[in-house]
Amino acid sequence: MKALVLSGGKGTRLRPLTFTLAKQLIPVANKPILGYVLDQVREAGITETGVIIAAETGHHVKEYVRDGSGWGMRIEYILQEPLGLAHAVKQARPFLGDSPFVMCLGDNLQGKGISHLVRRFQDDRLDCLILLKEVPDPQRFGIAVLDSAGQVTRLLEKPKEPPTNLAVVGTYVFSPKVHQAVDRIRPSWRNELEITDAIQEMIGMGFRVAAEVLDSWWLDTGKKDDILTANQIVLDEYVKRDIRGTVEGSTVEGRVSICEGASIKGSRVRGPCVIGRGASVESSFIGPYTSIGDSATVVNSAVENSILMTGASVKDVERMEDSLLGKNARISKNGRSRVVRANVGDFSDIEV
Ligand code: G1P
Repeated sequence: MKALVLSGGKGTRLRPLTFTLAKQLIPVANKPILGYVLDQVREAGITETGVIIAAETGHHVKEYVRDGSGWGMRIEYILQEPLGLAHAVKQARPFLGDSPFVMCLGDNLQGKGISHLVRRFQDDRLDCLILLKEVPDPQRFGIAVLDSAGQVTRLLEKPKEPPTNLAVVGTYVFSPKVHQAVDRIRPSWRNELEITDAIQEMIGMGFRVAAEVLDSWWLDTGKKDDILTANQIVLDEYVKRDIRGTVEGSTVEGRVSICEGASIKGSRVRGPCVIGRGASVESSFIGPYTSIGDSATVVNSAVENSILMTGASVKDVERMEDSLLGKNARISKNGRSRVVRANVGDFSDIEV
């Protein structure tokens, strides 16, 4: 079994962060979503992974994933223009060969992992296993129609009037027969080779296609969830109390991870939250669902339900909530409360 992890695309919806970052690399609880996806691939026992990258952002992805040894796997990078998920499969064919494979979207994460899907795929000798999840806004996704026995009968890509609310989650398992289907489909109205069309084709060709409905959480940071919601879920799921940095004259409550080299002075930290390497928190309150990136600083401020990326800083801000600060972004109070001074990049969004 191999894996194909899609990490291309433009991420226009996540501007301004995606001007300088691939959307799969936006940190959630101080770690890119892509990192969690690769963890799940490895947990399923897969050690050969193709990573699809785009020309614009591929170098960032490579810088993060490198040769894959951080995950104990071998990585092959495959360059792709954004022409659809089935097109990505086509591009990856030399890498995939005759192997069955798991396909994961690098900006999607689901709470059940991949191992149980791989097991079912093998035990039931399937050609395709998809994962579905009930959603309130099915018109934004690939949608599945099941018969009374739970068999997939139809798949539709972003229908205007969805017949069901069962969205196709971005985790799939395929046998090499998928390539025959990919060869037969034509580009959709959005000029993409859709994976939903390929799976529909597999059903038509009489291959064994099955679906499982996910009874856990699903994050789709490229589309469905905002990054702060993803941050909350990931902090809830993955963060344990683990204090490695220095804590002086402070209280640290609940599930808080404080990395090496971080320093907390005269502050109160209430989890779940993470505080990155070399970060510094002084005379401040850090509230639940906050991720403080490496080398970020918070001084004389209260911060809650927020993400501060690497090197960001907050100073003398009475209360900051629901905020996302990019790398090295700075917010401070100037003492004259009605004056706002800003030096803010394109597509930024500030509420005063
Ligand atoms: C893709 C798939 C769609 C699936 C979705 C999950 O959409 O085409 O079927 O439901 O991922 O995120 P796209 O990202 O291409 O809009």
